[in-house]
Amino acid sequence: MVFRLNSHILSRIASGNGHGEDSPYFDGWKAYERDPHHPTKNPNGVIQMGLAENQLSFDLVEEWLKNNPKASISSPEGLSAFRDIALFQDYHGMPEFRNAVAKFMAKVRGDRVTFDPDRIVMSGGATGAHETVAFCLADPGEAFLVPTPYYPGFDRDLRWRTGVKLIPVECDSSNDFKVTREALESAHEMAQLDGIKVKGLLITNPSNPLGTILDRDTLRSIVHFINEKNIHLVCDEIYAATVFSQPDFISITEILGEDDMQCINLDLIHIVYSLSKDMGFPGFRVGIIYSYNDAVVSCARKMSSFGLVSAQTQHLIASMLSDDEFVEKFIKESKARLAKRYQLFTRGLEQVGIKCLKTSNAGLFMWMDLRGLLKEKSFDGEMMLWRLIINEVKLNVSPGCSFHCSEPGWFRVCFANMDDQTMEVALSRIRAFVNKDVEARKLKKQLRWQGSLKLSFSARIFDDFINSPHSPLPQSPLVRART
Ligand SMILES: Cc1ncc(COP(=O)(O)O)c(C=O)c1O
Repeated sequence: MVFRLNSHILSRIASGNGHGEDSPYFDGWKAYERDPHHPTKNPNGVIQMGLAENQLSFDLVEEWLKNNPKASISSPEGLSAFRDIALFQDYHGMPEFRNAVAKFMAKVRGDRVTFDPDRIVMSGGATGAHETVAFCLADPGEAFLVPTPYYPGFDRDLRWRTGVKLIPVECDSSNDFKVTREALESAHEMAQLDGIKVKGLLITNPSNPLGTILDRDTLRSIVHFINEKNIHLVCDEIYAATVFSQPDFISITEILGEDDMQCINLDLIHIVYSLSKDMGFPGFRVGIIYSYNDAVVSCARKMSSFGLVSAQTQHLIASMLSDDEFVEKFIKESKARLAKRYQLFTRGLEQVGIKCLKTSNAGLFMWMDLRGLLKEKSFDGEMMLWRLIINEVKLNVSPGCSFHCSEPGWFRVCFANMDDQTMEVALSRIRAFVNKDVEARKLKKQLRWQGSLKLSFSARIFDDFINSPHSPLPQSPLVRART
């Protein structure tokens, strides 16, 4: 029997690679899955530092669950709600869920703004929210501008099934990756020259991967830009409650409330939110679209039947987020724990001379500057270093190229998805790796100086030598363990 190639029998979507998963971002996850670190069962395995999860405050949620058994329909106390919940299927969502989420979104933004529960539309995480928004705002072939570096999942979420394009707005380290009007204008102009219709701008505030927030002036300038161009603004604010030190987070909603913003067409503004990061619940798939545009609310609500949040989850979340005392305590404590972890991690890196983007004060990751460790200042050099970090140091960090960063040598490292002990192991591996590199450079210099390089050490052979188990240089604990 002759089998035809899948590309003949499947759709273009199924047989193509528009899913965006052919990227070192996802390859790193696979490397982790093949050899996951475990403190006793696999101490030399890969440590997952490529996953932006917030696991630092689970104990607070567990305590709340213990004290509120009625919130769960699978407990004797909550069982009486079972039948209603099992049957509920209105894609508007439960009113108590929408009310609680609207209140929570305001609380996370310092109660300086309010949200209308009737504008809250559910989706399967922010992932589903982005796709739904893209479906509502653009046709295949049309585009969104996205400042770089940006979350790699956008390449899948916004583009894959919608046929929408993403156009990078290049930002760089010369001004700490600020989103400037010039960069926006330039990307917009380039798209027009290429004959691509720009339908919107997608910003992530706080930023993944930078861990920075957008300041008031930048937000104002962005709002004026999209208004003048008459394009949409999609604001991903899913890290709003992770801002762990000053300055405070400013939501786009706050900017729209400013006196001189009356001229702005609110129909152009949409917020994407989720509980995946702020509460640490990516498994619950609670995504939210909050649009100021009635037609978008209406269409997104109809589309939400493709990705509803289960009624059981809505029921639990409604109950949890309506508990003001818990919410207040959780937000405060979660920020304090993130701040502490961030400080411990940055201090640990500083000890071996590694710097991170200094303007960051949010998120579950830091933007690590490893430009000094590149053998060659190019994206090939970045990939070489990334492979070394995955294979030798056994850390899954994510290279800047997977975030469309315009400069090689930056890496995102997540710090809130592990316990203190694992973080210490990760830090000690980084220290050993950097020290080894420093020693290698010293030795190289010394040998050159002594003229020993005449012994026809090509750079390649030299590198093999310093990486070999017979090298006199300190080896990382892992390399030692293997030899
Ligand atoms: C900026 C950004 N948007 C969206 C998502 C997807 O989130 P969710 O798990 O809610 O789908 C992520 C996940 O890492 C993210 O970082």
